[in-house]
Amino acid sequence: MSASYRIAVLVGSLRKGSYNRKAAMAMKTLAPPELALEIVEIGDLPLYSEDLEGEGKTAPEAWTRFREAVRGSDGVLFFTPEYNRSVPGGLKNAIDVGSRPYGKSAWSGKPGGVVSVSPSAIGGFGANHALRQSMVFLDVPMMQQPEAYVGGAAKLFPDSGELESDDTKKFFTGIITAYAAWVAKFAKK
Ligand code: FNR
Repeated sequence: MSASYRIAVLVGSLRKGSYNRKAAMAMKTLAPPELALEIVEIGDLPLYSEDLEGEGKTAPEAWTRFREAVRGSDGVLFFTPEYNRSVPGGLKNAIDVGSRPYGKSAWSGKPGGVVSVSPSAIGGFGANHALRQSMVFLDVPMMQQPEAYVGGAAKLFPDSGELESDDTKKFFTGIITAYAAWVAKFAKK
């Protein structure tokens, strides 16, 4: 069965060994067949400045590539670390880039979800909700339940990247299955 919905996956960490990226890759393998999860990279996006686009100016190519990838998706799924109780600056920058030019936000109406992943016990709760605040403003219906705060990440993702714990696999499967239903409910097709 070919996938019915293309999901843009944004990973908030830029580091190579990122637990969030590992979580995104694991989620991809556990997703039901109607979802195709594709990571949209954010590390090359110039910091947003209104001076870089507008009348007579061509927006940076990386911004255009990113906006088109989000616009062309049927939903957006975030994997975010917590930096100082919020989302990392690179992820906030991607959100800002996608929200402009004014009146042409790439985010509007895309069914959204967020998984926060942290080595700490509280699983990036602060980042998870900081992200929700922006996305609700950007008219993204964010899946409320089940919530996904993944703590203790250093033990969950060994170097192989494979999820070893059946409980974690079950939890991830529950999240992505619920998200598939959320997408089917809100996607614009
Ligand atoms: C962190 N880290 C962190 N962790 C946390 O649970 N709450 C926090 O507020 C912070 N703050 C924070 C700030 C900065 C600048 C850094 C670099 C790190 C630790 C963070 O959770 C840890 O580095 C994760 O491994 C980051 O996620 P990735 O890169 O593994 O996906």
